[in-house]
Amino acid sequence: MTRHLLLGQTLLFTGNPFAGDWQDSVTIDTNGAVLVAQGKIIDVGERDALRAAHPDAEVTDYGTDLICPGFVDAHAHYPQTAIIASWGKRLIDWLNTYTFPEEMRLADPEYAEEIADRYFDLVTAAGTTTTCSYCTSAPTSVDAYFRAAQARGMRVYGGKTCMDRNAPDGLRDTAKRAYDETKTLCDRWHGHDRLGYVITPRFSPTSTIEQLDALGSLWGERSDCLMQTHISEQVEEVAWAKDLFPEARDYLDTYEAFGLIGSRAVYGHAIHLEPREIDRIKEVGAALVHCPTSNTFIGSGLFDMSLARRGLVVGLATDTGGGSSFSMLRTMAAAYEIGQLRGTAMHPSQLLWLATQGSAQALHAGDQIGALKAGHEADICVLDLASTSAIAQRHAHADGPWEAIFPTIMMGDDRAVRDVWIGGVRQAA
Ligand code: GUN
Ligand code: ZN
Repeated sequence: MTRHLLLGQTLLFTGNPFAGDWQDSVTIDTNGAVLVAQGKIIDVGERDALRAAHPDAEVTDYGTDLICPGFVDAHAHYPQTAIIASWGKRLIDWLNTYTFPEEMRLADPEYAEEIADRYFDLVTAAGTTTTCSYCTSAPTSVDAYFRAAQARGMRVYGGKTCMDRNAPDGLRDTAKRAYDETKTLCDRWHGHDRLGYVITPRFSPTSTIEQLDALGSLWGERSDCLMQTHISEQVEEVAWAKDLFPEARDYLDTYEAFGLIGSRAVYGHAIHLEPREIDRIKEVGAALVHCPTSNTFIGSGLFDMSLARRGLVVGLATDTGGGSSFSMLRTMAAAYEIGQLRGTAMHPSQLLWLATQGSAQALHAGDQIGALKAGHEADICVLDLASTSAIAQRHAHADGPWEAIFPTIMMGDDRAVRDVWIGGVRQAA
């Protein structure tokens, strides 16, 4: 059995840096080491001690590179890979003009396979080792996603995007088809290897009450699955949801009324929440996912990061392809900038936590991924902290490890990703 010893600076979490002072929860070990075997992290510690304890381990010395948990992208749309960075629309127009026509193409299994492979190549190059993605309404797109991830040994989450109104022919299903196809796909993929099925109504404007009700019932039968959807992303969308559901107290109620609320719910965007919605989401322990590049790109608004300080579960995500990047580094930079605009500047430790353990917790996978801890799965991203001349010249006179890391968060891209390990396997550079 080969044991791998990775040497470098290590990013270590002992708690949630939003819960108190970040200093109490996150440290950088400048002399760190991680021991990996059989897909798991076996030990984490100081480099000389681990070298002495494991003299037969195969050593990879990353010098002063930062060894981090692999990034966890808690909300993405892999079918939108090819239409990322499409110009000029607001949410509903953007969906109708770019997104829905492209999503229709993934009914073709060969195209779905091509896009799934392209997507995983791109995210892996960016240091992301886990994604939680919407697929399209076509089961072929779900099979392509899980098959590609399974072949790469990745822990991923995803599901068929259900829509039975306000979407074109060819993407719409029905309440019954959504229920039946979701159930079949869930049975086919959930819990196999490192794959998790996510029950996925797109958002309440594209589902009838019959469909939301059917998916709420199914979630009751498959309660170990996650359920993902969108909520309160753009003001026009919030008004539309209220129009379509005149009985609902608020946007959340369009889900709550049909059982689509619970600790395993993962709500994307959540920018324009009302006080009742925030209280209720906190009460049930559901997760919110901040999608900062998308929220600026589509012009949706500025997420309130003080919700994380108030004890809500918050993850971070690209929202590819409404988001304008596949990279969680770029996503952290955008989260920092939005924090600045809202007067809640985040420390680099908080940004890194959101992109790893925070997102992992949002997906109920915080005990498996998102931290360099013994017993965790060995999904690892190694960052070169001086990857471009612009970053290197700032890094050269950094005062301490956090100042050394921050330029890579703000200016880094896939050139900063020195190496990626997935399930204990080093990916070909
Ligand atoms: N709301 C419903 N569908 C989508 C989508 O595909 N992207 C984004 N950003 N918001 C949505
Ligand atoms: Zn989305």
